[in-house]
Amino acid sequence: MKILLTEVQIAEKVRHLAARLSEDYREKNPLLIGCLKGCVVFLADLMRAITVPHSIDFVRTSTYGMGQTSTGAVRADLFDVNVRGRHVVIVEDIVDTGLTLGYLTEALTKQEPRSLKVCALLVKPGANRASVTIDYKGFDLPGDFVVGYGLDWGERYRDLPYVAVVDEQDA
Ligand code: IMP
Ligand code: MG
Repeated sequence: MKILLTEVQIAEKVRHLAARLSEDYREKNPLLIGCLKGCVVFLADLMRAITVPHSIDFVRTSTYGMGQTSTGAVRADLFDVNVRGRHVVIVEDIVDTGLTLGYLTEALTKQEPRSLKVCALLVKPGANRASVTIDYKGFDLPGDFVVGYGLDWGERYRDLPYVAVVDEQDA
């Protein structure tokens, strides 16, 4: 396993993103919507670094099965999320093809939020192809499949405090 982003690098970036959000959403009581399950570690750190009142909620999205390649099919479970009239920030762990984000953005837009922005910790090159805007971006990554800091490979490695590239030995 090769470490791509250390705990320290991630923590610094999270502080930076939280500072921007705190500035932009002063007195707007934003609703941060995390995409389960990958977002849990990022969202937990991000919300504690944000210094203005806000609330959180969750949706469940999935494209990947157990492997490393996207099936292209997006599934989304919005639970009972209601964003009408709210300032919404979608919080994603990683954007690859952008399909998940596109699908989710469309679904939430139908509920007529007051505003809708996206915060993603990691962005892969493929995201450029899809027409999604990432308003708050952590790191640009190469195309490799990564794990850790919430990201899994067949439900493994979410607990790693850093982001790493997996190789055959990790299977
Ligand atoms: P997209 O729809 O192709 O943008 O895929 C986004 C989702 O795929 C993310 O929320 C992740 O759950 C998963 N994903 C994409 N790339 C990776 C990766 O490198 N490691 C782990 N999960 C990934
Ligand atoms: Mg996954």
